[in-house]
Amino acid sequence: MRRGIGLLLIAALLLAVSGCGTDREAEPAVPHAVVVGFSQLGAESSWRIANTESMVNAAASYGYVLMMENANQKQELQIKSIRSFIASRVDVIVFSPIVETGWDNVLREAQQAGIPVILMDRMIETSDDSLYTAYVGADFYAEGVRAGEYLIRKADALGAEHMNIVEISGTIDSTPMRDRQRGFMDAIAGDPRFTVIDSISGDFLRSKGEECMTTLLDRYGADGIDVVYSHNDSMTLGALDVMDRAGIRPGQDIVVITVDGEKEAVAELKKGRINCIVQCTPALGGSVMALVQGLTDGRIVPKISHPVEGTYSDLDDLDDPEMEGF
Ligand code: AHR
Repeated sequence: MRRGIGLLLIAALLLAVSGCGTDREAEPAVPHAVVVGFSQLGAESSWRIANTESMVNAAASYGYVLMMENANQKQELQIKSIRSFIASRVDVIVFSPIVETGWDNVLREAQQAGIPVILMDRMIETSDDSLYTAYVGADFYAEGVRAGEYLIRKADALGAEHMNIVEISGTIDSTPMRDRQRGFMDAIAGDPRFTVIDSISGDFLRSKGEECMTTLLDRYGADGIDVVYSHNDSMTLGALDVMDRAGIRPGQDIVVITVDGEKEAVAELKKGRINCIVQCTPALGGSVMALVQGLTDGRIVPKISHPVEGTYSDLDDLDDPEMEGF
């Protein structure tokens, strides 16, 4: 009797699995929504907030599910997020590395799991380029060069014989910090009119930009500084507040060069309180999602993509409609 029931159960199971005995047509497999795991590094600047928005909007317009985590400026949280994306078997991982080093192990885990990784905004330092599939972001070295080239033109226009430069840099060991510094130094190298007298990090934060400017003025006084080269607008805007309180006229007493192009900085450029903005666009979401589509379609995608960016300055047309800011 028991054996009979057992056989009946097996037969029922086989029918259910094979669909035999029903007149249902075989159903086509339902394609699942593409899932993108995205680790954003933080919310340190207006640039970053605009960049996050760009990613969210682009994912929505492609109909992708965006699993987003914010690492609050901590590399260990980014590594944890990437591990959780691997465990969730997302289709593609996108992340913006806070610093360049220390990613090989976790990226190897993603590679072993067969999940492609797109670096967005910032690069990594690795001896194994196969650990990431693509990079989408600015050419930060070129940005630094553009800042230096502007300064050369400005010194010519002012007829300056010598200029003392202070640098307020971004997060130590991040790609924009390293490359904006290198590009700038290379562009002014060999020009005896320029001396970089100090460089301190403001971590891309407005509050720290304020602290840095206060320290620099304490060290050198207003008369000892001719140029501030700041690696982003947030820090620059903090530095302008300090100059205002100290009775210094930014843009006139001190040449101010900044990077990004947020609306508030563009307004300061138009008022003559910032002399030059090297553009760095946060609108990378569309390019990233186009790559995600390419990868999920099985296409080969370009390894490196840079957006087209410009430079806006008091030596150019301030009514340039391109110079709108974000
Ligand atoms: O990596 C891009 C830089 O990071 C932007 O210039 C800065 O504003 C941001 O915090």
